Formats: sequence, structure tokens, C-alpha cells
Amino acid sequence: MFNKLADSIRQKPVIGWVIFTVVMVAVFLLGLLAASITERRAEIATLHANKVIEITGINPKSDEWGINYPREYNTWLKTKEMNFKSKHLGNMPEDVLEGRPEMVVLWAGYAFARDYSAPRGHMHAIEDVSHTLRTGTPGDGINDMQPATCWTCKSPDVPRMMHEVGITEFYKQPWSEFGAEIVNPIGCADCHDPKTMHLTITRPGLIEAFQRQGRDITQATPQEMRSLVCAQCHVEYYFKGDDKYLTFPWDGGMTVEAMEAYYDNAEYADWTHSLSRTPMLKAQHPDYEIFLLGTHAKRGLSCADCHMPYVSEGGIKYSNHQIMSPLKNISSTCQTCHRDTEDNLRNYVYEYQDKALEIRDRVEKELSKAHIMAKTAWDKGVVETKMKDALKLIRQAQWRWDFAVASHGASFHAPVETQRILAHSLDRSMLAQLELQKILFSLGVTDFTMPDISSKAKAQEYIGLDMKKLRSEKDQWIKTTIPAWLEKARAEGKYTMN
Ligand code: HEC
Ligand code: HEC
Ligand code: HEC
Ligand code: HEC
Repeated sequence: MFNKLADSIRQKPVIGWVIFTVVMVAVFLLGLLAASITERRAEIATLHANKVIEITGINPKSDEWGINYPREYNTWLKTKEMNFKSKHLGNMPEDVLEGRPEMVVLWAGYAFARDYSAPRGHMHAIEDVSHTLRTGTPGDGINDMQPATCWTCKSPDVPRMMHEVGITEFYKQPWSEFGAEIVNPIGCADCHDPKTMHLTITRPGLIEAFQRQGRDITQATPQEMRSLVCAQCHVEYYFKGDDKYLTFPWDGGMTVEAMEAYYDNAEYADWTHSLSRTPMLKAQHPDYEIFLLGTHAKRGLSCADCHMPYVSEGGIKYSNHQIMSPLKNISSTCQTCHRDTEDNLRNYVYEYQDKALEIRDRVEKELSKAHIMAKTAWDKGVVETKMKDALKLIRQAQWRWDFAVASHGASFHAPVETQRILAHSLDRSMLAQLELQKILFSLGVTDFTMPDISSKAKAQEYIGLDMKKLRSEKDQWIKTTIPAWLEKARAEGKYTMN
């Protein structure tokens, strides 16, 4: 081959010049690339050299870190914004049960049936967990509904408290125990080592899950860390045993089936459904696990590539810390890799989402019906042994539905996997109905009809919730308890934000 090339160059010298020019251009471009990498390193190095104050220990006060890193801090502050709506997601407050009242039936007997809103930015984490009806109105002789474990993914005060009181001791306290301690929303100390500013893992659940899988998280590459910091919270987990120890069910694998097998082996249930009496599983938000099965993860992307894109400002490049929908700013997210129009890129996302939602809506309708058919069978005095198969199908169907739906970005992160999970959920919902149809028939029920659950209020009344009472008790509690917690934290210098 080289002989042939040499011959051609001898015959037509111009070919030699063409090759020479191409090589020179390539060398020049490589040089530029190397320069830009060193330049970025240098920028970050000077950033560190410009430290104004020394941050030590676990400092949950992000405003103090902000003195050293104003760009990251100012973009982080913007996670408070509520001004963007994409077709299905965005950062605006949204009452999900209002739009999809079947979910009230799916969660009957569980706190989620009271109240469930779409996620907002990280700055709202403390406010939202305190304001939701799911945390009740503890204090003054009223018991907590939740353990302290519920704070785990809301605040850098969590690693601080774990350090002070011990990990097991932290989880097993009632939630309200730390009301005046856990006050700062998700911030710098959740993801960064203050000395080096390297990404770091602050949540024991993730470190322990890696250990049980025989992996060492300290060996993760910098690119993997750009996802693993998110995987501290955006994952599936449960509260294990009486100590409510936060545990990831990853020991046998991270797919929907592997985690179900883990829970089945442990004979674990989050609650017993109040209508169908099924031992249920509640999926949390397995964003990380589902993401790993999609095209982008397989090509080596991390969460930060789309949710924390680089921005350039006066010659300085930094990561945008306004973590939110990448569709807000397609030119700095998708378009750094894809040569396609904004409209096309946005529409790829919507197309995947719309197709998944077609199946999701079918599941919610059919699965809520299965729960109510089971309730009817119980009402007619069915013997327990006859219900076993149907209830197992309901448990499996709902685990799959919740897994796909509670991971809010799943239908884009891994569209094929998400459709697969939803298809299995619909399949099991229909099989449960077939089972229950036979049972109802044997009990002489030939005219099963659905109750009216066409609005959130109607569905909540149907499952027996007194929402007026719950709402007014909570409103009163929000007015008195939360300001008292914040005041105490402020007086002790633990909370300095406005
Ligand atoms: C300490 C736990 C924690 C960590 C770490 C964390 N998140 Fe979150 N994230 C949350 C919680 C909690 C919410 C919901 C907050 C609310 O609704 O009040 C949330 C919300 C979000 C949202 C929705 C925002 C919106 O505008 O609707 C996105 C997107 C998101 N996180 C992505 C990420 C990414 C990407 C990372 C890693 C770079 C990450 N998160 C790290 C806990 C965490
Ligand atoms: C949810 C996790 C998370 C939180 C919270 C967070 N960061 Fe970051 N930060 C990241 C990631 C991911 C990167 C990119 C690191 C990389 O590419 O190696 C980063 C990068 C940085 C860098 C390096 C320069 C740059 O911009 O790329 C600085 C400095 C920084 N963050 C400061 C802060 C400060 C200050 C806060 C609090 C106001 C904060 N971060 C909160 C995840 C987080
Ligand atoms: C290739 C780009 C890309 C990567 C990489 C990526 N995401 Fe997303 N993510 C998206 C898009 C697009 C959406 C849908 C946004 C919309 O519909 O407005 C989304 C949605 C989300 C949501 C729901 C936001 C909401 O408002 O409810 C969360 C949470 C989320 N992603 C977390 C993550 C986590 C955690 C990772 C890493 C494990 C990750 N994402 C990796 C592109 C990405
Ligand atoms: C850091 C680079 C990078 C970013 C940022 C990125 N992508 Fe990709 N994307 C890829 C790569 C690499 C592939 C795989 C391409 C291939 O194998 O042909 C891919 C594949 C795709 C595909 C087709 C495959 C599939 O299964 O989804 C779509 C659609 C897509 N990306 C949309 C988006 C959208 C929308 C965004 C912004 C929210 C985005 N990408 C952000 C690198 C990126």
C-alpha cells in the first residue's frame, strides 16, 4: 500500500502536498484540543487558587461556598426558579393526582394517596418534604408518619448529622426529630469535597451497595462520578428493618426483575393495599438504574453531560449548576453533540415520552380496576387462598408501573427498556383481571362496575380519606412548626439563607 502511495506521489506531486496539508491541519486541530483541555484545567486551578475563604468539615451552608465559587453558586440558586414547562415535565409545581386520579386508588392505604406533586428544583427539597401531607403533622402528642430516613436525599445537613450522631442512629429517629437541624436544601456539600472540590460520595447507601456488589466506589472514573453523585439520591431504595436503614436493593442486579427478586426473597412489602389487600412495593425513583440501560449511558455519557452543561462566561468555562430539564437550553445540552435543529431534538424527546405515556395511561386504568375487582371479591367473602395468584399479579404489575413512572426521565433516558417494563405491567394487570373475573363469577358477581374515581377528590373520598381534616391540620402545622424549626436553626447559626 505504501509503495503504491509513493508511486502515485512520484507521478503526481500534488497528491503529496494534499497529504502534507491534511496532516498539518490535523496536527493543528489536535493542538487546539490539547490547549483547550489544559486551558480548562488551568481555569479550574486558578479558581481554586482564588479561594477567598477556607471551607472545612461538612459545611451545609452553600452561601459560604458561594463566596469562593460565585458562578456555580449563582446558577445553583436558580434551581429555585419555576418558569419552565416542557410538554410533560419542567420545574413548575404540579399536582399529579389531580391529573391522574387513578393513582389515588393505586396507592390506597399509603401516604402517597394523600398528596403527590411533580418534582421541582433542588432548592425546594426541604420545603416540599415538609409541606407534603405525606409527612403528617408530628409534635404535640401526634406521632411521626415517617422515619428520619426521609430526610436522606434532601440536604447536606444529612451527612453532617450522620457524622454527629452515627448512621444507624440517624435513620431510626422519627422524622421530626431533626426538623431544626435539616434546613439547608441540596447543596455543595452533597457532591463536593471542600478541600479539592473533587466530586465525592456523601451518602452511605450508595457506598454500601457498591461494597455488597464487590465494587469499590473510590475507583470510579471522573466521568462515572458525574453520574454517581446523582445516584446518591436518584435511585431505587428501601427502609430496611426496624432501624429503617436506607438500603439499595442492588445485590442481585439493577434491573426491574433483579430488584423485584431481591424484595420477594426478603418477603418485603412497603404496605398492604387497603382495597385489594395486596402486599405492595413502592418504587422510588430509579433514574440512575434505568439510565444505564439506554443509548446515551452505553456511549459513555453521564447525567451532568445533559443536566449540568458547560457554559462560557468571559473566557471562563464552568458547569451550569441549575440542574433541570435539558430542554430549557438545547443549544448548550443536546446540540453540543448533535447536529440537528432544536425542534427536531425536542421532538425526539416528546415522541419517546408520548409513546410511553400511551401505555402508562392504559396501565393506570386497568390496574386500578384490578384493585377494585379484588376489593369486590373480598367484600363478597372470598377465601384468602383463592386470591393468591391475582394478588401476586397485582404486586408485579404495580411494581413495574411505578418503576417506569417514578423515574421521571426514563422514557427518554432508555425508551426501549421503559416500553418493555410498561408492557409487562399492562400484561400482568390484564392477567390479574382475568383471574379476578373468574373469582367474581364464582361468587355470583356478574355485573361488576367501576365506582366514580374521575377526579382526585372523588377517588380520595372513595378510598376513605378525610381530606378536609388532613389539609386544615397540615396548614395549621405549616404555619407554626416550620417557622419555629427555622428560627431555632438560624439562632444556632445553622441556616443563613434568606
Ligand atoms: C441529595 C440528593 C440529591 C442529589 C445528590 C441529586 N438530586 Fe436531583 N433531586 C433530588 C430531589 C429530592 C428532587 C426533588 C426536589 C423537589 O421536588 O422539591 C430532585 C429533583 C431533580 C430534578 C427535577 C428538577 C426540576 O426542575 O423539575 C432533576 C432534573 C434532578 N434532580 C437531576 C439531578 C442530577 C442530574 C443530579 C446529579 C448531578 C442530581 N439530581 C443530584 C435529590 C437529589
Ligand atoms: C448534585 C451534585 C452537585 C451539587 C449539589 C453541586 N455541584 Fe458543583 N459540580 C458537580 C458536577 C457533576 C461538576 C462537574 C465536575 C466534573 O466535570 O468533573 C461540578 C463542578 C463544580 C466545580 C468545578 C468547576 C466547574 O464548574 O466545572 C466547582 C467549583 C463547583 N462544582 C462548585 C459548586 C458549588 C459552589 C456548589 C454549591 C453552590 C456546587 N458545586 C454544588 C456537582 C454538584
Ligand atoms: C442525553 C441527555 C441526558 C442524560 C445523559 C441524562 N438525562 Fe435526565 N433527562 C433528559 C431529558 C431530555 C429529560 C426530559 C426533560 C423534559 O421532558 O423536559 C430528562 C429528565 C430527567 C428527570 C426528570 C425531570 C423532571 O422535571 O421531572 C430527572 C430526574 C433526570 N432526567 C435525571 C437524570 C439522571 C439522574 C441522569 C443520570 C443517571 C440523567 N438524567 C441523564 C436528558 C438526559
Ligand atoms: C455528550 C454528547 C451527547 C449529548 C449532550 C446528547 N447526545 Fe444524544 N447521542 C449521543 C451519542 C454518542 C448517541 C449514539 C449515536 C450513535 O450511536 O449513532 C446519541 C443518540 C441519540 C439519539 C438516538 C438514539 C436513542 O436511542 O435515543 C437521540 C434521539 C438523541 N441522542 C437525542 C438527544 C437529545 C434530545 C439530547 C439532549 C437532551 C442529546 N441527545 C444529548 C451523544 C449525545
